[in-house]
Amino acid sequence: MSNVDYDLLIPNNVGLSDDPKLRRALEEWHPGYIDWWMDMGPEGFQTADVWLRTAISVDKSGWAKFGYVKMPDYRWGVLLAQPEEGRQIPCGDHYGEPVWQEVPGEYRAMLRRLIVVQGDTEPASVEQQRLLGKSAPSLYDLRNLFQVNVEEGRHLWAMVYLLQKYFGRDGREEAVELVRRRSGSEEQPRILGAFNEKTPDWLSFFMFTFFTDRDGKMQLESLAQSGFDPLSRTCRFMLAEEAHHMFVGDTGCGRIIRRTAEAMKEAGIEDPYDSEAVRALGVIDLPLIQRKMNLHFSLTLDLFGSEESTNAANYYTAGLKARYHEDQIQDDHKLHDASYPVMKLTKDGFVSEEIPALNGLNARLRDDFVEDCAGGIRRWNRDIAENGIDFELRLPHIAFNRQVGDFSSLPISPAGEILEDSEYRARSTEWLPTADDAAFIEELMQPRYEIGEFASWIARPSKGVLGQPIEFEYVKIPG
Ligand SMILES: [Fe+2]
Ligand SMILES: [Fe+2]
Repeated sequence: MSNVDYDLLIPNNVGLSDDPKLRRALEEWHPGYIDWWMDMGPEGFQTADVWLRTAISVDKSGWAKFGYVKMPDYRWGVLLAQPEEGRQIPCGDHYGEPVWQEVPGEYRAMLRRLIVVQGDTEPASVEQQRLLGKSAPSLYDLRNLFQVNVEEGRHLWAMVYLLQKYFGRDGREEAVELVRRRSGSEEQPRILGAFNEKTPDWLSFFMFTFFTDRDGKMQLESLAQSGFDPLSRTCRFMLAEEAHHMFVGDTGCGRIIRRTAEAMKEAGIEDPYDSEAVRALGVIDLPLIQRKMNLHFSLTLDLFGSEESTNAANYYTAGLKARYHEDQIQDDHKLHDASYPVMKLTKDGFVSEEIPALNGLNARLRDDFVEDCAGGIRRWNRDIAENGIDFELRLPHIAFNRQVGDFSSLPISPAGEILEDSEYRARSTEWLPTADDAAFIEELMQPRYEIGEFASWIARPSKGVLGQPIEFEYVKIPG
């Protein structure tokens, strides 16, 4: 069933036409979803024609087709990767047993929680990004934003399918809650902290897609290894879409940084800290980019949860959530006797301490995430160096600006120095975006809606979308 059935209201490759009960449940949920999209989706662009990809198959090659779509007409559907023959539970106490096709009763509550938390992040990011169309640096970027948005919407469908198919009445109730909570709301906030923060501008958007979507990727990778096979197959297909979100973040930050470096070189400005001179060129100074990076990186680290976690141990032992690339790791996949080094702050400073590996799974996934970030940052620094500018972007210390876990609320600088509270407070404007930064960015980010036009602060991409030129009407904005 690699091809998708488009005859129903809800495109799918899960045999919805033979499952009237589930079909009814999803069709009943559909109007509430559309209401949510109209209310919380991209503001001002619901009637625009957008050059979007839509999944038509789950084959690795050629799974998507491109064409103009009005976003509310996007065919959000339920798509699962092909089953893998003979798949076995990859970790925990059931290691090596055949994977589950139905929810194992003893793990039902845990599994539902995992799906709800993942599902909650998907609409949250759409909500956080809903005003960005008004300040898009180009039609190309505007299209990429909307592509990410509709796919996050589809990821919500993916999680709602699992809830409605496998969790009966409480699954249906959770599905309704997923379109009822709102990012940043006092009364009904999204579940995780970073998904209640604002994404006020395009530098934040690209940092969000680089860091926070990458957390999403790490979570999906570990759920793609789940012993509950429908979850695994769902996540495997979501990862195909997620690759584009990584691309948007990586190239978006990269193009901003390159534009700044090139503009500085052209103007003969050598001091990256001369923000007045740099900003006068209509580009974003590198220290401000570093402050945004510090913010988004630290917010994203909080999403991995406490370094030591019995929940994480339970998920793993149950076989519901594995490690990143579990199938490529050589060990017993049970970890009862294994340990893992976790950074701790003691009176002697930061030390590495061995803890039981099962309890350290959140820390481990976070470490994998940090490593996964490194490639992009290396490329960005190369562009800075190639333009002869003496400045290096750096990931802040993992203890900087944390709200969750061992380092929560500690006065630690991005370099990892342990400070007095007063010094920390006094210097925090060096490290995190300031009101002045926000005002500068807000003024800088004026929309560019002409075909092939780009804002002054971002380089053109190296090519257009799937064979289209850069000068293409990626979004037809109704006049
Ligand atoms: Fe997603
Ligand atoms: Fe994403």
